[in-house]
Amino acid sequence: MLTLIKNGMIVNADKIVSADILIEGGIIIDVAENLNEDGATIIDANGCYVFPGFIDTHTHFDLELSITTTADDFKSGTHAAILGGTTTVLDFATQDKGGTMSEALQKWHKKAEGSNCNYGFHMAVSEWNDKLSYEMEAMKAAGITSYKMYMVYDALRVGDGEIYLALKRAKELGSIIGIHCENYGLLTALIGELKSKDIYPPLAHALSRPALVEAEAVARYMRIAKLANAPAYVVHLSTTGGLEEARRARKGGQSVYLETCPQYLVLDDSRYMDADAEKFVMSPPLRKREDNEALWGALANNEIEIIGTDHCSFTMAQKALGKADFTSIPNGGAGIQTRAMLYYTYGVMNGRVSLEQMASQLSANAAKLFGMYPKKGVIQKGSDADIVIWDPSVSGVVSHKTLAHNCDNTPFEGMAVKGAARDVLLNGELAVNNGRLVSPGLGKYVFRSSCGF
Ligand code: URP
Ligand code: ZN
Repeated sequence: MLTLIKNGMIVNADKIVSADILIEGGIIIDVAENLNEDGATIIDANGCYVFPGFIDTHTHFDLELSITTTADDFKSGTHAAILGGTTTVLDFATQDKGGTMSEALQKWHKKAEGSNCNYGFHMAVSEWNDKLSYEMEAMKAAGITSYKMYMVYDALRVGDGEIYLALKRAKELGSIIGIHCENYGLLTALIGELKSKDIYPPLAHALSRPALVEAEAVARYMRIAKLANAPAYVVHLSTTGGLEEARRARKGGQSVYLETCPQYLVLDDSRYMDADAEKFVMSPPLRKREDNEALWGALANNEIEIIGTDHCSFTMAQKALGKADFTSIPNGGAGIQTRAMLYYTYGVMNGRVSLEQMASQLSANAAKLFGMYPKKGVIQKGSDADIVIWDPSVSGVVSHKTLAHNCDNTPFEGMAVKGAARDVLLNGELAVNNGRLVSPGLGKYVFRSSCGF
């Protein structure tokens, strides 16, 4: 079956061209002006931008915590993803202490069956030992070339030495490790101090994790990566201080990659006094307006490569589990469907970033860093036909009621947005038509090769 996308403006990371796209068998077979093909199904993209499918590098679907499980599983999460223009998510399969990576991978493959967009996995590891080091080879053979380690959370956190050893091993295998950078000792001490005071719980969460808690951890990670002679990848960077530490490391010659998320660009910590502020309880917490601006500046300068969402959704009833103790509020927020519209509205339309940067920071850079390029991340002959037809004429207001995620809140409630994914092609099939999921369950596993630009 042939599909022809006509009359759109194709936006790739390096240029914008007016051209048509011919697709067959899930692959782009031609990109050129004035293409015509007898019998092809025509999609008219007149007035629209045509982007490579967006890639979300940071999701947590169907994640079991000690007190509850995330509101979104792969079915609802990828439904919301694809409506927002995301055609591939990288979720965190998580190895439990004492367990193997293979067990985690098997479990996550099962969870992801029937997904509405393509998916791959990073492997989150909660400890380090020879067995896991050896298992990384099997992970590579299974298409897993990126890992995550946490400096925080009792069930997951690892020490500096473990990070150092894991980084060295990952480097040998062409893999990369993303680190959740917060100083556990400091935030634990701050929690202790705050618990003796009568402070509104969502605000207490934010106060327990001030900017220095992140900046110190990023600085430490940079030095650990330097010792290991390995590239460093910081997930969900939220502060100017953390950014400065990454800049310092780059100046010293290190390979550093950075991810931030929309919540650290368009929301600030004044929200912790809102009546429903539990929905902003996430780690790291929301920061100052100046941090938002510093991160936008770094995106404009291409110092931050990637925008993920850290979609980790909970209903307000789940958030209420922490009413009596702010440390029990489940950490995380919803954001899978709103990433591109927020970036387009508050980034592109505000003149902070360009359309080409939208293509690179929402798609191409993730594909390059995580071993999916040029199958993903670019519209060119031979690439997978994961394509977003973006209608810039649409405007609206974010409301959880109109989002497809399985939770009754969004941190971005009430924000004005422009632009929307009108149609989305997934592996060459029209999965979203006029903003509605018309072909569910077409998501495929994305086997990834070595990481790095
Ligand atoms: O609060 C957050 N971000 N929860 C999800 C887990 C993580 O830290 O990425
Ligand atoms: Zn996360």
